[in-house]
Order: sequence, then C-alpha cells, then structure tokens
Amino acid sequence: MKKIIIAGLIAALPILVLNSCNSSAGKSITESAESSKEESYITIDTSKIPDDQFGESVRYGRELMLRTSYYIGPNGINGKHLGNKMNCTNCHQDAGTKPFSLNLMSSHDNYPQYRGREDKVLTLAERVNNCIMRPHSGKPLPLDSDEMVAFLSYFKWISTFVPKDSLFKGAKNMEISFPDIAASPARGKVLYTENCVRCHGIDGEGKYNDDKSGYTYPPLWGNYGYQPGSSMHRIIKQAQWLKGNMPFDKVTLGKPYLTDAQALDIAAYVNDDSVHSRPNPKTFDYPNKKGKPIDYAHAPFNDTFSEEQHKYGPYKPIIDFWKKNGWKPVY
Ligand code: HEC
Ligand code: HEC
Repeated sequence: MKKIIIAGLIAALPILVLNSCNSSAGKSITESAESSKEESYITIDTSKIPDDQFGESVRYGRELMLRTSYYIGPNGINGKHLGNKMNCTNCHQDAGTKPFSLNLMSSHDNYPQYRGREDKVLTLAERVNNCIMRPHSGKPLPLDSDEMVAFLSYFKWISTFVPKDSLFKGAKNMEISFPDIAASPARGKVLYTENCVRCHGIDGEGKYNDDKSGYTYPPLWGNYGYQPGSSMHRIIKQAQWLKGNMPFDKVTLGKPYLTDAQALDIAAYVNDDSVHSRPNPKTFDYPNKKGKPIDYAHAPFNDTFSEEQHKYGPYKPIIDFWKKNGWKPVY
C-alpha cells in the first residue's frame, strides 16, 4: 500500500512541475507512465471458468470462437447461421485473447460504443452480429439465442483478466508507420507468393481441415472469404494485423516478420478487387464522413484525395490534412 502511494507521488510530481511551464511535456510523461503498464502480456486461465450455469455459457462461448463453423456454420450442428466456414479465431486468434490479434479482452468493458460505420451507438451483441454478417457472410444471431448469450458470457469472463482502463500489451494491433509511396498490389503479389501461398494457396482459397468442418488455413478472398464490408478489407487495418500475426509460422509474439511497407503491399494485393472477387461487394458504410477511416476507399470523403489514394496511400498527406483541420483521422 505504502509503495503505491509513494509511486503515485513520484509520478505526480514531475507532471505538476512540467505542467506549469509546458503542458505538452506533462502529457508525454503521463503517456510514458501508461505505456509501462502496457509492457506486460495477459493470459487467461480456463481452469478458472466457474462450475455453474454461467460457466457453461462461457465454455460454449469459447467453443464458438474456436469452432464457429462446426456449431453455426453452413452445416452447423446447432444452427446454420454462417455463409462460410471461417472461425472467429482465424482473425481474433486464441479465441480473442492473443495480443496484437484483434484482441477482444476489453470489448465487454468498452460497449455500448459509438461506431462510425453505422454512425450510431451499438451494443456488444450488435457488434458481434456485424462480424457474423461481414467476415462470415451470415445471418444475425437472435439476441436471446444461446449462441449470442454464450459469446457475451465469454467476453465478460475474459474481460475480468484485464485492467479496467484497457491498457495492456497487445490490446490493440501493432502500429504501422507509413512510407512516402503508395502500397502496391504488384509488389504485394510477389511477396504473397514468397510468404503466403504455401498455406493460403495461389488463389487465396485456403485449405479445409480433415473433416471439412473448418479450415486449417482460412481463405483470403473468393466466395468464402471475408466481405469488402469487413474491416479486414481496409489496407492499413489488415497490414497492422499482418505485422503482428503473419506469416503464421514466422511471427513470434511481438516480433514481426514483415516490414511495415511489405505488410501494406501484401494487404494491397489481398484486397485488390480488380483481381480478387468477394461476396457482397456493394456495401457502403460510414454515413458520417468524419467517422470514415482514411483507408475506407469509398467517396464521399471529408477531403479532396481520390478513392485510389484513400485505398493504397500514400496516407501521410491525408493524415496531415485531417490533423491540420483539427479532425482526428481514423485508421
Ligand atoms: C476476417 C476476419 C474476422 C473474422 C473471421 C471475425 N472478425 Fe470480428 N473483427 C474483425 C475486425 C477487422 C474487427 C475490428 C474492426 C475495427 O477495428 O473497427 C473486428 C471486431 C470485432 C468485435 C469488436 C471488438 C471491439 O472491442 O470493438 C467483436 C466483438 C468481434 N469482432 C467479434 C467477432 C466474432 C464473435 C466473430 C466470429 C463469429 C468474429 N468477430 C469474426 C475481423 C474478423
Ligand atoms: C504457415 C501457414 C501460414 C502462412 C505462411 C500464412 N498464414 Fe495466414 N493464416 C494461417 C492460419 C493457420 C490462420 C488462422 C489462424 C488461427 O485460426 O489461429 C491464418 C489467418 C490469416 C488471415 C485471417 C483470416 C482470413 O482468412 O481472412 C489472414 C488475412 C491471413 N492469414 C493472411 C496471410 C498473409 C497475407 C500471409 C503472408 C504474408 C499469410 N497469412 C501467411 C496460416 C498461415
């Protein structure tokens, strides 16, 4: 107890001193104090799932994350909700608990939340249904279904392992720094052949597991891949995820294999709609232009940059323009 108070005083002191002459220096001290909390990874312990009805729902929710298609896929044993055989864990790895992999451990704490895509406040259940519909081309789960209740129970349970301020290492995907040139699908294709074909296939088709209930290597495009309305289709968003997670056999936790520029080029190739088809290509979101992520490449925009530049970059001029106008760029 004493230690905490002393640490608090020491941390507060320089902020007070610096704040009196330079407020931005004060802010950076606060930030570095925060980032020290982000230095530790968090693991969950499934043996601590309670032995009661709530625990049963948590267990089913975790199973649904790991074997989504087996339970609710096109041939699902508990309902045919999804249009493809991907599992949630293909993107939210380790059932949403892997650092830097679209980690879901704070989601239960962070919803209801304003979402720019719909320009309204969504509940966590509605947000789950967005992923059922876009990456999985599925029908929304009824809000009172055992499956939706199980997803929410599981998210609540994993949220008990994280600090309430959501600051822990890998809570967000890795950051990408932007090169001065645009991302290139042509360079990306070469890199894809070298780094991705061995698992995801030359046509991005992936590879089914033995009983075909899901994938050993999930598809990246085609009829069974995620839809263009899924955020994986945005090049910056995908590059941030690739950096922390792919190639699957080369990345170790927190140690990327691809450079930032390579991750952007590969994401540009994977998401090049002139060569790769996807289900439901005509979805247009983000009715509020100021909430539109800069790499969501459908006009109208809050600026005069082209759809091409919004999609492939260079992104820095767009980010600078937004900042100059006092708007917060989303990506
Ligand atoms: C193809 C990849 C992909 C698959 C498969 C996928 N998701 Fe997502 N999911 C995403 C991306 C990308 C985001 C983040 C979007 C953003 O940052 O705006 C996301 C966000 C979410 C969020 C919101 C997290 C937060 O805290 O804001 C939830 C909850 C979620 N997904 C649940 C699921 C569930 C449940 C499944 C399985 C039914 C699933 N997802 C399958 C890509 C995927
Ligand atoms: C050694 C095999 C392997 C290699 C190489 C590999 N991946 Fe993956 N990839 C996987 C596996 C396995 C998953 C699913 C992870 C899980 O379920 O935990 C995955 C998931 C994905 C996903 C999210 C799910 C989906 O299908 O949309 C994307 C995107 C992806 N990989 C892109 C790539 C790209 C791009 C490369 C090359 C830079 C690459 N991967 C290299 C095995 C691989």
